Order: sequence, then C-alpha cells, then structure tokens
Amino acid sequence: MNRLVAFLLCLSISFSLIAQSDNAYNLLPFPAQFAGKDGHFTVSTATRIVVNAKDAGQRAAAQTLANQLKTVSGFPIAVAPASPALAKGKHIVFQAHKTGKCGPEGYILNVSPDRVVVEAETPKGYFYAVQTLLQLLPTAVFSPAKVDNVAWNIPACQILDRPRYGYRGLMLDVSRNFMPVSFVKRFIDLMAMHKFNTFHWHLTDDQGWRIEIKKYPKLTQIGSRRKETVVGHNAENYPFKYDGKEYGGFYTQAQIAEVVRYAAARHITIIPEIEMPGHALAALASYPELSCDPAKKYEVATRWGIFKDVYCPNESTFAFLQNVLTEVMALFPGKYIHIGGDECPKDAWNASAFCQDLIKKLKLKDEHELQSYFIQRIEKFVNSKGRAIIGWDEILEGGLAPNATVMSWRGTEGGIEAAKQKHNVVMTPGDFCYLDQYQGNPVQEPLAGGGFLPIEKVYSYEPTPAELTPEQQKYILGVQGNVWTEYIPTTQHVEYMVFPRASALAEIGWIPQGPRNFEDFAVRLKEHLKRLSYLNVNYSKRLLDIRAVTQFTDADQLQVRLEKLDSDSKMYYTTNGKQPSTSSTEYFTPIALKKTTTIKAISSAGAQFEETFYIHRAKGKSYTYANAAAEKSDPNKKKLTDGQVAQSPRNKSEWVSVSGGDLEVTIDLGDVRPVTKISANFLKRISYNDFPPTSVEIGLSQDGTTYKDAISQPVKYTLEGSWGILPVVADFKTARARYVRIKAKNAGPASAGFPREGLPTAVSVDEVVVE
Ligand code: ACM
Repeated sequence: MNRLVAFLLCLSISFSLIAQSDNAYNLLPFPAQFAGKDGHFTVSTATRIVVNAKDAGQRAAAQTLANQLKTVSGFPIAVAPASPALAKGKHIVFQAHKTGKCGPEGYILNVSPDRVVVEAETPKGYFYAVQTLLQLLPTAVFSPAKVDNVAWNIPACQILDRPRYGYRGLMLDVSRNFMPVSFVKRFIDLMAMHKFNTFHWHLTDDQGWRIEIKKYPKLTQIGSRRKETVVGHNAENYPFKYDGKEYGGFYTQAQIAEVVRYAAARHITIIPEIEMPGHALAALASYPELSCDPAKKYEVATRWGIFKDVYCPNESTFAFLQNVLTEVMALFPGKYIHIGGDECPKDAWNASAFCQDLIKKLKLKDEHELQSYFIQRIEKFVNSKGRAIIGWDEILEGGLAPNATVMSWRGTEGGIEAAKQKHNVVMTPGDFCYLDQYQGNPVQEPLAGGGFLPIEKVYSYEPTPAELTPEQQKYILGVQGNVWTEYIPTTQHVEYMVFPRASALAEIGWIPQGPRNFEDFAVRLKEHLKRLSYLNVNYSKRLLDIRAVTQFTDADQLQVRLEKLDSDSKMYYTTNGKQPSTSSTEYFTPIALKKTTTIKAISSAGAQFEETFYIHRAKGKSYTYANAAAEKSDPNKKKLTDGQVAQSPRNKSEWVSVSGGDLEVTIDLGDVRPVTKISANFLKRISYNDFPPTSVEIGLSQDGTTYKDAISQPVKYTLEGSWGILPVVADFKTARARYVRIKAKNAGPASAGFPREGLPTAVSVDEVVVE
C-alpha cells in the first residue's frame, strides 16, 4: 500500500471514529424510555424530511431540523410533503401519533439505518423530537456554519419520551441589570434546546421598571433609570460606594410582543412578573402617590436589598395596578401573571393612619392580613380576565388567595404548605435553584451574591417533597431556576452563571422520578458542553475543576485528595512550587503532607489548581466551643484545624461565626509540647454585621484547667473600607502547652449609622494555626 493511500485510509477511519464516539447518545435531558440499537442512519444529499403538508406543527419542526442540517452539511436538505415516491427511500419521516402515548409534550423516535420516524401528538412534541434528533447527531450540528469532514450519522435507537413535570422554567431578572431583546431571544433559544417550557420574566423591581405601560409613561421615563449603582458587593464597602453612572433600559410594547411571538415559536410560555406590594421603588419614584407617604421623595434604588417603601393599599393604587395589568395581559397570552408578593416590609403600613384604619374597617388581624387582602383583590381582577396569579411563597402569609399558585423559594416549606392547601406549586428553593450563587471557589469566581450552589447539588434536587401524600404531590407543577442579576451585569456573565447548571435543572424537570446518577449525567454533560461551545455560550468550566478535600491521618499527616467531576480526564501535580505539566506526577491516590506545602495541579481537560495546605500543631486536633452558636456554623468541628485557611471574605461557609456574643474555643493538642506562635484570622464585613472582635485573648494550659501565659490584645482596624481578613498573632517564644484557648470579644450591637444598626454583630474566625 502506498503511503498516501495508507494516510488517507487512516484519516477516513479516524473521522468515522470521531463521528461515532461523538454520537453516543449524549442526550440531555435524557429520554424517559430509551433503547440503543446497532448501526446508524446517515444523513446524505438525498435525505428529505417528509411531513404531512397539512400539519403546521410537523412542518415547523421539520423546517427547524432541515435548516440546521442544511447549514452544517451543505446538503440540499429540504422539507417535502409525503408522497408515494418518498415512502421508500432513506428519509426522516414525521407522522401523527394516534394511540395517546406521547401526551401534550412527548414524542416517539425510531432511528434505524433505513429510516428515521418521528411521531407526536402536538406541535410541541414534534419540536422536542427535533431537539433530541439534533442531540443524537454529532455535536457539530450546532455549528452556525458548514462543517466539513463530519459523517452526519444518527445512531439507531428507539425513544418514547415525555416530561415528568408540566412546568420547567427559568426566571431572568432584567430589573437589576437590563438584558437587551437580542439576548432575551438567545436565552429563550437555549431554554428551548433544553426542553424548558416556561420563561419567567422579572420585569419590575426597586432598581428599574422595564416594561412600557402606555397609560403611565413615567414608569419608563423615570422608573427605568437609576442615577448610579453600588460598587462591588452590596455590603462590601462601608460606607456604601457608588459608580456615579446613570443606568437604564426598558422594552417597548412592540419589543415585548416580538419576544412573546419568538418564545411561542419555540414552545415557551412567558410569565411576566409585576412586583407588588413590595419591591416597588421604581414605580413609587415615578408616581409617589402610589405610596402611603406621597410627600416623601422616592428614587429608583441604586443598591440591592429590601426597601421599606412599598405600594399603599388604597383605591388609586388598585386602579393603577389594574390598568398596568390590563396592558400586561394584552401583551402576554399565557395563563399566569406573576404578581411578586415577596419581601414586603410592613413599616410603611404600620406608620400609615390610612392602613391602620383599613385594617380595622376590614376587620383584619394585622399587616400580613392586609397584604393578603392586597393580593386577593389583585387575584380577583386577574381571574376576572380569565387568567391566574402566581406569587412568591410570602403570599401564604395572612391567607392564600383562593386560586393562587405558589412559587416556593424560601426553602420548600411554602410549597409543602400550599400543596397541603390544595394549591398548585412551582418549586424553586434558594438552596438548589438560585443560579446567582457561587458555583465554584469564590476566590476564583466572579463576584456573586453569596451562597454556594455547585452543579452536583443542583442535580441532587428532588422537586416533589416526600412529606406530601401522593394526592398532595399532584399539586407540584414543576421546578424553576432563578437568575437574579444584582451581580450579573452582562449577558456573557448571565450565560456563565446559568450554564451548565440550568442543564442539570432541565434534566431534573424532565426525567422520571427515581435515583439519579451524577457521573452518568457528567459524561453526557461533557459532550453537551461541546454543543454549547458551538453556540458560543460562555458556560462555566467548573465541571472540569480540580478540588481538594483534606483528611488527617493517625500518622500525623495531612492527606490531600484531589477530586474532579469528570471521570475521564487525568490529573498531574507538583509539590515543589513548579508549574505542573503532563510529565509531572500523575495523581492516583491522596497526597500525604508533613509540612506546609503548595500543591499545584492540572487536568488533561484544562483545569488548573493551586492551594497551600498549612501543617501546624493543631491540624486535625479536636476542639470545643463554649457556645452553641459556634457549633451551628461548624457542625463537624473541623473548620478551625483542617489545614485549609479561609481565603476570601466572600465565602461565609468557610468561617466559624458567633452572632450576638463572644467566641470561645479550646483546642486540645493531645500532649504537652512547645508552643511558639498562634495565629488566627478574623472576618470584617461591616455592612453585614461581621465585626472583628474588639480584643482577642489567647491562653495556654498544660492541664486544661489553669490557663497561663495568656496574651491579650486589642484588635485594631478601621470600620471604613471594604471587606477584609484581619490576622491576630500571639508570639509565645518558649511556652509549653497541651490546651489552647481563644476568647474573641464581640463588638456588641451595631451602633447608630451602621447599615444594620441595633442588630447583633458576629465574630467570625477561621483556622487557628499553632506553631
Ligand atoms: C426572592 O428571591 N426574593 C423571590
């Protein structure tokens, strides 16, 4: 064989191998019923997509598939009406399903080497079948342009697919940071690809009103603009720091109508959210007469949080809201209108003679019942127009409006309670569904609001609470991820926070109830990320990250286990400070450390890792707290001596914290030996009431009863400025001890002028290093 032929043969084999392995059923969400088969259907220049010409749903879905296949292959793929001539050849054939197995969103797919048959009962079913077909094809099918040298094979299989939940949503907050129409459409495209069916559009809030209302032009003239925005994290600087730049944006009604049409074509319903009675500052800045104190000057909020200025429950406010909702309902044809209902402080209603009179007149118990009255009036109006309200779980307080659907966000309790009251529920608990939280180590991640929600935790979420009876469980409509944008200023950043965590949520909302296997999901996800790459999505690469877990052994060593979520990449590391490469030591088993060491690692998937592990006398030693509050933030009693020093004031979970009192901890070093130096870091986050201690006393003892050699020192710092970490060091030179006791004095309640004045402050500490 001449060398050129051998080379070409080799090339063609490797191409077909690439196409094969690329195609191995990496479906996401995975179908409800699936059987893999041998062989594959090959899309060729002769392939036609055959439909019943009278079925608009078939035609639309087939056209989507044809367009994409034509773009990437360059073949003259076209949609063709069924005909005797096409009944035989190797084509992709759409046909109506007749026996009710698919339901409103399902489909059947039969792929054999001779034919692909797509069946469904609805346009949506055909659309989802096409999403699955695209995922069966090589990932390059998601390319925006022609891709050469790809075999457009669809691996043979048999699928009967339908979703577990009828509601699969994502919420996007465009009030805190405005997102242009072009991006909203892209977001909808990415949702559709994941078979989400509901886009919850958070259109109004304290920081901006984003929807044109013809009857109230000031809502957008004034309410869509804020004069500046807080810098960094809301609470990062004391006093608050602002950027001095005006910020704004809104959608015209024509743009909204265009987005609604765009979403409908992708089988996504939009739920618009108009917040009330709280989160209303942008509206009050536009029309102060909607507040209980119209003489007060209101401004569109320039920082994040909860504000005490809210709508006043008077007749003119109800008239305003009904007029607004009338225009909103004319734009959004879906069943649900979201009326907010969350985080409404009652201060303004407490102080208002009108509200207090109204409470008496209506024989209400308190302001919570007044909020319930507010929501019930709005519900009556919305119901009278043939629509239904949905609201955050606070709408349970003071009595649920008769037909309301509840979005359970403060954990799952609200959802459980609502289902017990026979109300529909969408589950979106913060701990599992808030995609604005950190997904990786805050030291390496862009600023986020707080909290830690890695993708494996998202994937572990079971939306239907086990506490409910089977009858009550029927009220759980489904699950939603929320994208609050306080700390997400750009569309690129939205993509980073949403993907691929939303891919995990999409699967939770779709696949049947039962045990899930994250490893299997991760393998499919790795392939799915290639699709997102073709679509130029700025997704987070954390799936590929390397992380360290530490454990102390009897041999007085620190064992560092390197972990990653993808099972097929290799890790290489160094302990000598040098940058690792693929010729460095490959990681197989935990690394044993006897002295303070920096481990640097890389993975063959491109991840980089670096962390210093502190080996000191107290490492792995047990300790006791004098107060229960500290134990609550350190339930495993490991944080202070685990060899990992908290690196960032952003990640509160690394710190041990005592609110409203002193922090006292006693460490047992095991035996009496020399102690030369003890250091500990304290947290400063003034606007969050994490105050450094006013003084720290570090004492040593040989018997655990008498403490001598105590070093007491005041902690010096300025309250002004940004978050920080304050080290406290006690130098003992020649002492000997078995026990170390640290007492850190709480600064007391925050005084007047502080953001949380009058409330208790906390002392927070991490890693007590004993040398
Ligand atoms: C919410 O996060 N305030 C619903």
